[in-house]
Order: sequence, then C-alpha cells, then structure tokens
Amino acid sequence: MTVTEEMRNQWRITVDYTNMTDKYLGPLGISKEALEEVRPLAVKAYNYVKANRGKDGLFMGWTELPYNQREIVADILETAKGIRKKFEYFVVLGIGGSALGPAMAFSALCHLHYNDLPRSKRRGPKFYVEDNVDPVRMKELLDVIDLKRTCFNVISKSGATSETMTQFLIVSDLLKKAGEDVKDHVVFTTDASRGNLVKISRELGGVKSFVLGDGVGGRFSELSPVGLLPAAVLGIDIKMMLKGAAYMDKLCKTHDCKKNPALVSAVLQYIAMKRGKNIGVMMPYSDNLRYVADWYAQLWAESLGKNITRTGQMCNVGQTPVKALGVTDQHSQVQLYTEGPYDKVITFLSVGSYKEKTPIPHGYVDIPDVNFLGGHTMEELIQAENKATAYALTRAGRLNYTVNVPVINAFTLGELLYYFELQTAYAGAMLDIDTYNQPGVEAGKKATFALLGKPGYEEQRKQLDGAAPDPAYIV
Ligand code: PA5
Repeated sequence: MTVTEEMRNQWRITVDYTNMTDKYLGPLGISKEALEEVRPLAVKAYNYVKANRGKDGLFMGWTELPYNQREIVADILETAKGIRKKFEYFVVLGIGGSALGPAMAFSALCHLHYNDLPRSKRRGPKFYVEDNVDPVRMKELLDVIDLKRTCFNVISKSGATSETMTQFLIVSDLLKKAGEDVKDHVVFTTDASRGNLVKISRELGGVKSFVLGDGVGGRFSELSPVGLLPAAVLGIDIKMMLKGAAYMDKLCKTHDCKKNPALVSAVLQYIAMKRGKNIGVMMPYSDNLRYVADWYAQLWAESLGKNITRTGQMCNVGQTPVKALGVTDQHSQVQLYTEGPYDKVITFLSVGSYKEKTPIPHGYVDIPDVNFLGGHTMEELIQAENKATAYALTRAGRLNYTVNVPVINAFTLGELLYYFELQTAYAGAMLDIDTYNQPGVEAGKKATFALLGKPGYEEQRKQLDGAAPDPAYIV
C-alpha cells in the first residue's frame, strides 16, 4: 500500500511534554534554562548517533533496518505464506530480545483473543511466544499444540542461550520420537556464521534460516527477521512496519530538540535521571500496547544500566523501568505515583482513536453514579481517565509526558519502535556509556553454564559452590 502524505500526517506519533515543564509543575518541573544547559550534550549525542549509523562494529546496524531488507522481506513473506498454509501452530522459542518484540507485535496488532478465534477468523496459525524455561509452562504448551502441525521459530543470535537451546532440544527430541523430520518443523533466526544454530542446521540437512545481522543486537532486532517473520506469519503488514520506522527516522533527522521527538524524550529523561528520578514508568492506555512496556523495559534497562563509561570511569547509571497498564493500574499503583517518593517519570502511551468505540448504554436513571456513564463510549471513558490521571499527577508535581499514538496499526507500531530505539541510543550517548553491550546478562549466562557443568566453567563452578547459602541466615 502506498502511504500518502495525508496518511503520514494522520498517523504521526507526537510527544507532549507539557507536564514535564516548570510552567506546569513549578520548581519540580524542567525549565527552559535546564533544557538549554544540556543542549550541547544533546547535540553531541545526536551527532554521535548520526555519524555511527549502520556501523556493525558498534552494533548500530539497527538504524538501517527500515531500508536494507528488500530481499529479506520478500523471502520472509514467501516463507510466512508457506507456514500459514502448512501449520496450525507457530511457536517462537527465544528469550529477551529474541522474544519480547514478537510478543509485543502480536499483542499490538492482532485480536486480543487471537488464539481463541476459529481458524476462519485468524489470519495465521495459533501463536505462542515461549520465553521461559519454567518446566510447567513447557509441558502445558505441549498439552495444547499438536507437534505434527507446529512450526517452531528458534530465535537466538548466539545459539548458545541455555533457555532457548533447552527448548529446542526438547521439541526436536519429541519431533524425532513422533517420526517427524525436525528440519520440516523449524525455522532458525540466528547469526550468519558464529551461532550454533548454523552448525545444527547443517547437521539437520539445511534448516530454513534467517540471518540476524552482525550489527544488530537482540533488543534492537524487532525490525529484523527476529520480529518480521513472526509478524508476517500473523498476517501483519511488515512493509508498513518498516515504512513507519523510516518515517520516524525522518522526523528525527534534526538536532533541534524542539523538532526531534526521540531527542527531546532522551533529554527529558536524562535531566530526570540526573535529578534522581531513577524509576521510569511506562503506562499504555491500551491493552494492545501493554507489551510495548515489556519490550521497552528490556531496551531501556539493558541498554542504559551500566557501571562504566566509554572512557572507563565508574558510573552506575540507568533508570528502572516499571510496567503499568492504564486504566487497570490506576486502581493499584497510581496512588504511589501521585503521593509516594518523587523518584519517577511517567510515560503515558495514549491512543487517539481505538479500533472499537463500544457505546455505553443508558440505564438506571435513578442511580446517578451509574446513569451518567450512559450515552458515552468506552473510548471516551478510557481517554478521559488517561487525561484525568495525567492531570492528577501534574497537580501533585509529578513529572509525566505523553506519547500520542493516533491509531494502532503496523505503520504506527513501526514508528513507535524506532522512536524508542532512537531515544535509547541518544540517552546512552548522553550518559556516555556503551548502549549495546550487556555484561550483566552475560555474567548470569556464564554462571548457569558453570552450575550445569558446561566444560570450561569449572573454576566458576568452584566459586559458585563456595557461595552457597549460609545456614546461619536461613530462618
Ligand atoms: O538484548 C540482548 O542482547 C539479549 O536480551 C538477548 O536477546 C538474549 O540474551 C538472548 O540472546 P540470544 O539471542 O543470543 O539467544
């Protein structure tokens, strides 16, 4: 579909940071002077990201994904078509950056009860993202799928992640026992050459595989085959997602904070972090967007949570992401946000037009508490509650801003993802840390290897055995 200028304008995501400013929050808000003070740093961050776009060595290959995947997209669409025809179940096996994106796009762009719909009303097979090694979850997945009619998309850049490889070992064993050829039931998404899945593919006689480019890390990979294949299997318009991302990229091509939505968000968050706002709440007012908060939590936490700057200085920076859902969490967490410690920034994801309006019928005229709702729509109600919560937080002097998503579709989801990725890249550059590494995650992975007896980790095993719980402190 061609996206006209009019469509782009209608679907343009905007950032409203009124409620971050001292004009509305008084001394607790951010003044023009404070913004001016960090402007040189923001420009430097903008220039750093611009200068290093697409550089694989710096893990910035993600910036070019909206532009350089023409052939890959064609292959993905063809493969997805075959999967839709042949299989009743599609299961993503992956974790972290290899799972959160597919789960988010599924929830954002598919029916909220997709798997419960009859096949005639679904655009693709039943869909599951298995991102844990909880043995109960694995067993109970196997209770509801039919292996012989299941395609497993094994997503792992390294092919060395214990969780994903465990899942793969289990399903391939079961497939073999069921007399199936494993390679007919799996698609790999992995590193071009380094990953173990490449070796396994060879052993199995050539598994259909997609490449996760060298310069694209897990949490920045949703617009690569990691996210695009599952999305295409679900019938999501992946070309539109990429167009939306490219549009956001275009909107952000200026170092002027007032015009670049990702840069202004990074700057505001940076100032907030420097003022001790160590918690970043993301609160989508939409069930479809609820997993955007999960995906973002990884992007923001794993990218910015670092203890050393690029020049080797100790720093311990980052902001703890908290996921909330509007309106549900108004009745659980908003009390804390309004009156608790001044340690948070709240980011609302607001929807301009929901795909359903759902009128509220009139009734019970003699009960005003109930009757006043009649004649409105549920869309009006959720939007009013969003506005009311932002207002209440602002009155209480709490930093909050709103990302306005005019309508939820593949284009705006692409915009949203690219916006948050750019925001993270700018914020990382402002904090002067390596946004793209994750030594803290690797440390846990290695300790697991040691505990499960992987050769080469004997020394670490000894250390871990020495760190066993002390009975003196067990009550
Ligand atoms: O963002 C990241 O790099 C991580 O969260 C990884 O995606 C996660 O650890 C899974 O790694 P892999 O794709 O190698 O299995």
